[in-house]
Amino acid sequence: MGLSRRDFLMRVGQAGGYSAAFVAMQGLGLVEHRAVAQARIEAAPGSGNGTTVVILGGGISGLVAAYELRALGYQCTVLEARSRPGGRNWTVRGGDSVVLNGMAAQRCTWDTGHYQNFGPARLPSIHTHMLNYCRKLGVELQVEVNMTNSAFLQNDKANDGKAATMRQVANDTRGHVSELLMKCINAGALDAEITSADRERMMDFLSTYGPLNDAGSYIGDDRAGYSRTPGAGDEAGVLSVPLDMHTLLDANFWEGLLFDQAFDQQATMFQPVGGMDRIPYAFAKSLGSLVKYNSIVSEIRKTSHGVVVSYVEGGDKKSIQADYCLCGLPLTILRNIPNDLTESHQKVVRESEYAHAYKVAWESRRFWEEDYNIYGGLEFCNVGCSPIWFPSAGMFTDRGVVVSGYTDELDSSFATLSYREKLEESRKSMERLHPGHGKELEKPMYVGWGRVSFNEGSWIQSYGSGDSLYKKDKHGRRKRVNSAQAPGIVQKGSTGGEKQPTAAATETNGAYEALIQPDWPIMLIGDHTSHLVGWQEGAALSALRAVQAISDHVKATKLASAPSRMNQS
Ligand code: PHE
Repeated sequence: MGLSRRDFLMRVGQAGGYSAAFVAMQGLGLVEHRAVAQARIEAAPGSGNGTTVVILGGGISGLVAAYELRALGYQCTVLEARSRPGGRNWTVRGGDSVVLNGMAAQRCTWDTGHYQNFGPARLPSIHTHMLNYCRKLGVELQVEVNMTNSAFLQNDKANDGKAATMRQVANDTRGHVSELLMKCINAGALDAEITSADRERMMDFLSTYGPLNDAGSYIGDDRAGYSRTPGAGDEAGVLSVPLDMHTLLDANFWEGLLFDQAFDQQATMFQPVGGMDRIPYAFAKSLGSLVKYNSIVSEIRKTSHGVVVSYVEGGDKKSIQADYCLCGLPLTILRNIPNDLTESHQKVVRESEYAHAYKVAWESRRFWEEDYNIYGGLEFCNVGCSPIWFPSAGMFTDRGVVVSGYTDELDSSFATLSYREKLEESRKSMERLHPGHGKELEKPMYVGWGRVSFNEGSWIQSYGSGDSLYKKDKHGRRKRVNSAQAPGIVQKGSTGGEKQPTAAATETNGAYEALIQPDWPIMLIGDHTSHLVGWQEGAALSALRAVQAISDHVKATKLASAPSRMNQS
């Protein structure tokens, strides 16, 4: 069936709203690739006057929803179980107490000014909506160094277990791969694949890319670093000896090597100065008394003209009625709250599975800066606690807070370790990467999101029956599986035909698609209703989508109940 470009855009617009149509237009080359600071909500100013919305959960999705709905005139209330805003956006500082289910309370004794973002800790530059809210709300941002070439990769199989720098592993790998490719070309193995003109160009390219010597060999390069750095006078530098190809392959080093090449991990990354929670606190300040803290939702019911939500505030049972309900609660929590969602939603809520990401953070002398020249960035090892994540704030000061261990506990034996054992494991990883420095780690703090009340999980892992927007590859890396191919790209080996980008091309057998449908007067929000699971941007976009949906619903409802204007002109 032929679809005109206009029809296609109309359909994308209808299915995915303005921002989807805009992105599709970019894909078709109809508009310039410029950052969209904010997807516009198509609703008349004041169109929310007289309509009430109760928002469950004061995490990023709930806060953004309240902020945008209020701007349109809606009367909103946010019910938040904790005494603070932000949900998983949680920054711990000295003086704070961390209470995890089934564990003794941990008291944080870090020096003044030190903190750890145990939830979100980086804002990619492509997450324009979050960055735009920071701009609007006056949240000061600084660069988060996600990758530094001075950081280490370690694998027991490589280098006698000694760590190697990212710069060495990256550039030696590239050198060896270029050399192999050059050999293939020289042997004529690629003659069927490239034209003779491209053959020459390819060889030129590989010589520089490798870089390769005149004989086509990679013999090391200053990109990979020095065993003795160049100095003044007669102090010539000595290049480090390249790691051999076999070692590099055996060590699976490339996992840690490529993490910052993922679309949402690429430089430039940001973080708020002083802690990620500056964002929810800025929203909360703007929203004022719209956010009700210490309010634990106990029941969500549909009524003939809206919803009634029961909650417990400081021990008192209360309830609130509203025309609409936006529910941003984690599905792990929602499944234990009696509610009137339809069965298609209930099924996903019941069957979904969450990851249990954790972080262990320590205060320490900044030996990574002083002794290793490492400023920010992450390092990876193949066993134990990985990655290590160095602070981007407070560089060149005496002490800082460093993470040793941030993964999904359920993926490893870490979940089964006692608190003491977890800390020891974390310290051991630092010792493995930076021998002699494990003992410099002090004042540990562990947060495992599976044990955090009102979360009981870090992010959605499966929408039921094992379906997920992300799949783990054989190296355990999270890979998005739902990206549509760009229009016009014909996959090799396929029967041809254009693949159009679809608004929601997922591999969830309909579970995700069911979850994101409004179940009026209720609609779910949160990163789990977006294609950006585990990102604040996903939460913000889900909220904007819901605000648009409510606006459209309100408009349609008003039109339906308005007296007929058929005879007027
Ligand atoms: N956003 C989180 C992070 O950057 C979790 C995440 C990890 C999400 C990897 C997607 C991919 O650490």
